[in-house]
Amino acid sequence: MNKMQIKTLEEYREKYAQSVSDPEGFWEDIANEFQWMKKWDKVLEWNFTQPDIKWYQGAKLNITENMLDRHLEARGNKPALIWEPNDPGQQFVSYTYRELYEQVCVFSNALKKQGVEKGDRVCIYMPMVPELAIAVMACARIGAIHSVVFAGFSATSLADRINDAQAKLVITADGLNRGSKQIPLKRVVDEALGNTLCVEKVIVFDCLGWQPHMKEGRDISWSDAIAGQEKKCPPEPMDAEDPLFILYTSGSTGKPKGVVHTCGGYMVYTAYSFQNVYQYEENDVFWCTADIGWITGHSYIVYGPLLSGATTVMFEGIPTYPDAGRFWQVIDKYGVNQFLTAPTAIRSLMAFGDDHVLSYSLDSLKVIGTVGEPINEEAWKWYHTHVGKERCPVVDNWWQTETGGIMISGIGNISPQKPTFAGYPLPGIQPVLLNQEGIEIEGANEEGYLCVKFPWPSILRTTYGDHERCRVTYFSHYDGYYFTGDGAKRDEDGMYRIIGRVDDVINISGHRFGTAEIENAINTNKLVIESAVVGYPHPVKGQSIYAFVVCDREIPSESQDFARGEIIESVVAEIGKIAIPEKIQFVSGLPKTRSGKIMRRILRKIAEGDMKSLGDTSTLLDPFVVDEIVENAL
Ligand code: WT7
Repeated sequence: MNKMQIKTLEEYREKYAQSVSDPEGFWEDIANEFQWMKKWDKVLEWNFTQPDIKWYQGAKLNITENMLDRHLEARGNKPALIWEPNDPGQQFVSYTYRELYEQVCVFSNALKKQGVEKGDRVCIYMPMVPELAIAVMACARIGAIHSVVFAGFSATSLADRINDAQAKLVITADGLNRGSKQIPLKRVVDEALGNTLCVEKVIVFDCLGWQPHMKEGRDISWSDAIAGQEKKCPPEPMDAEDPLFILYTSGSTGKPKGVVHTCGGYMVYTAYSFQNVYQYEENDVFWCTADIGWITGHSYIVYGPLLSGATTVMFEGIPTYPDAGRFWQVIDKYGVNQFLTAPTAIRSLMAFGDDHVLSYSLDSLKVIGTVGEPINEEAWKWYHTHVGKERCPVVDNWWQTETGGIMISGIGNISPQKPTFAGYPLPGIQPVLLNQEGIEIEGANEEGYLCVKFPWPSILRTTYGDHERCRVTYFSHYDGYYFTGDGAKRDEDGMYRIIGRVDDVINISGHRFGTAEIENAINTNKLVIESAVVGYPHPVKGQSIYAFVVCDREIPSESQDFARGEIIESVVAEIGKIAIPEKIQFVSGLPKTRSGKIMRRILRKIAEGDMKSLGDTSTLLDPFVVDEIVENAL
């Protein structure tokens, strides 16, 4: 698998140029590195108007044949997946490629026996155990469309997703471990299924030994389901454009969208981006700390690494259990070579002090990555200094559920690094910045709407059951462009800095600021751990800034004005007087989704004084912080 790998900056430039002048030739060469049952008739056919995007038309493949069968000969005894349990005292589990292949085949046969057929939707609501990854691959092997729902979503959210996809079968567990807590899952599924009619069967994995209630005729245990099943299951031949999975993601409206990815293009792009961004070499151990309930876990725990024959680490627990050194302990334990986590995790660990990281060697690390939100300079430097030991490049991966894989990022140690800049587009990716009028911005250091003007293999194809919504959300803002919803800047070297969602842009007296930009400024203050900024209506300026700030200590009320003054000084120093927050509220935590994204929608309502329409807060990491913020709102 070497034709797809870029090893020098010069090669990056050459490949980039080729990918623009001859995109079909470029993506054909890369596709040739995989195993196809039948090759394509045409590499690409597309328009962004309907949109209608087809990669590798006419080709037949099964993605799991490329993840498992293909590696058996050379890598059969190599660890494919290492599972680190929540409890550090519990024995870890390692599957070789052969073992994983067999387990996936066994479960594929189990699914078939329960009546699952090609094209059926299967909802997976599971803990971070190996059986989750096995279930995902088993669906792919038999051509069923998986819809993984993050195991922190409420019964209502789960039911909505099951109904939208019309899932026939649900795979779950009795419950899950999360730090010192145990959280029920089967009970949530039972509640959700009270509001669905489509589900015929539920397979229940035994994670905690709880022996939950099983509904006669509907529920079956994982062990009963696999009993007597063969360790061989032929991979279903899939069209390149057959759906591989649905993954729900929130947008500006309340109802989540089911982003659809297809077999051929997603396969090509996840492996390609994985191998390049992380400069993967045979026998490297890769660890992405995301949950498989999110796109990052799909692409960079399961698909990308296994397609590449890598060893992928899967972690059941949380970064702070049993203490804030857990990540670093696990890196040393397995000799992890590439590590990928979220800025929010980095910031939370920073707050526990450096001692937790300084006691580990971290010698094995070669490349460290961040994903999911803009990383502020403080966190970037801490990560680079204490985790990367100033030796490992920090790759900031910008992408989206809709893009399937990393789009703009540092590329291992071959591209330059600049804190808070995601970096260059990968070869094959053609980002542009558009102004209000939809005209491409050519110059440097101007901010614009980040769009992409040419398809790449893992671009979303539709939103499940509602193609018009896909068109309106992503392809109607600017004619002929995929609209990301993000604002970005490009420097004189062509590196991109992601400012944040344009729906989070604040306009003060005609000047635009990214909330992330203002937060960056506030976060430079020594007192501050993190912050969230929203706009609220202001009669003269249009909008004013309301900042919710988490400090490294509790600020007593008599010191708050002083602390506010300090923070304002930081903002003035970083951006200018125009960006001074009108209100600064000290809070003990921010309302975040379980993937770590700050729920600005809720903060915006609070800032507006509209406490009645905070909406559903049940899916938040800690719903109680909202009560505290409301109580002390300014
Ligand atoms: C949105 C996509 C893609 C994996 C997880 C999130 C923001 C993502 C970065 C980054 C700045 C980032 C963007 C994007 N985002 N990565 N490296 N720097 N912002 O996936 O839930 O689909 O969210 O996350 O705003 O549009 P997602």
